[in-house]
Amino acid sequence: MKKILVTGGAGFIGSHVVRLFVNKYPDYQIYNLDKLTYAGNLENLRDVDQKPNYNFIKGDIIDGDFIINLFKKEQFDGVIHLAAESHVDRSIANPMEFIMANIVGTVNLLNAAKHIWKDHFKDKLFYHVSTDEVYGSLGDTGFFYEDTPYDPHSPYSASKASSDHLVRAYHDTYGLPMLISNCSNNYGPNQFPEKLIPLFINNIRHNKPLPVYGKGENVRDWLYVEDHAVAIDIIFHKGPVGETFNIGGHNEWKNIDLIKVLCRVMDEKLGRAKGESEKLITYVTDRAGHDLRYAIDSSKLQKQLGWEPSLQFEEGIEKTVDWYIENQAWLDNVTSGNYQKYYEEMYLNR
Ligand code: NAD
Ligand code: DAU
Repeated sequence: MKKILVTGGAGFIGSHVVRLFVNKYPDYQIYNLDKLTYAGNLENLRDVDQKPNYNFIKGDIIDGDFIINLFKKEQFDGVIHLAAESHVDRSIANPMEFIMANIVGTVNLLNAAKHIWKDHFKDKLFYHVSTDEVYGSLGDTGFFYEDTPYDPHSPYSASKASSDHLVRAYHDTYGLPMLISNCSNNYGPNQFPEKLIPLFINNIRHNKPLPVYGKGENVRDWLYVEDHAVAIDIIFHKGPVGETFNIGGHNEWKNIDLIKVLCRVMDEKLGRAKGESEKLITYVTDRAGHDLRYAIDSSKLQKQLGWEPSLQFEEGIEKTVDWYIENQAWLDNVTSGNYQKYYEEMYLNR
């Protein structure tokens, strides 16, 4: 039996990782540690939360005493660390929350693992889930590789870069067994509607403007969230300790082209006239420090560990739109309350 701590398991990607591990590994005990910020939602795990190998712990990784006591009590064999503040625009508005959760929170987990696993590192693993944004921004060509120098531009990506460095430092200095993966943009069910795809699905649903930053020419490399969860499973079980793996979909889209596909699919699904949703497109002030292009080279993961994305984008986007339309109650639930205030502050004078 293995005891695995998944941090941030009530969030978007974390909930897909928890579901995969709970279902696939009945002999593991999975502990989902989550503070339940605006982005954490236990509804995301309703289909697995009664399983005997699933455990939920409400807690804050910023609280070092709580974390060390938890590690003492539960004696985890492995950690998959996803808990973070994850939205770039929020990091521009409030960097300190990102420093605390993403840097201090990660160090608290590293300290607890180092302290509790001391001298017993064999068969232990600290897996840190990171982002391609640490590599900065590409021009029109080229890819991010595992050895691309770090060049983060937003408080979010700088905080993730910091946490990556600290994870590597604990490996090099103390011998803590670790792995890191850096993934491109995820999309799919359960993503909080502050991120591009679910935000625009929700706005189209309500006939609200679609706020395209700048000229809509920035490029992102999109990966279906379940494919990320599968990659994490493979890396966690097969990745050689100390290594880094890039994860990406080889699926680059200029924002404006992706938005037009989304509008078309939404028109079809909602029975609207062709071109109806595109009329909602509104160009607004660009994001400060907006990275132009991300593109991941994931050939190391594909060649060494045999992972590859399972879905074509058209299929993934249809599945995603279907999920949000079938789960409008989920959208309504997460967009009530504080969401309205956030939305007004973020977009009113843009
Ligand atoms: P998310 O914002 O949907 O979820 C984050 C989760 O972490 C939430 O459940 C939240 O409650 C929890 N959390 C936040 N602060 C916490 C704290 N102090 N203590 C305990 N729990 C806390 O994020 P996501 O999009 O699912 O991203 C998960 C991880 O994957 C992050 O580390 C992010 O940097 C990384 N990542 C995300 C993407 C993407 O496209 N979304 C891509 C690559 C990497
Ligand atoms: O690349 C991985 C990263 O992808 C993750 O590490 C982050 O956690 C995740 O949020 C995501 O970051 P992005 O900034 O790329 O995602 P976002 O959905 O915020 O924006 C995608 C693109 O769409 C980006 O170029 C900005 C643009 N955009 C976004 C929003 C929210 C708009 O044009 N309008 C919007 O309202």
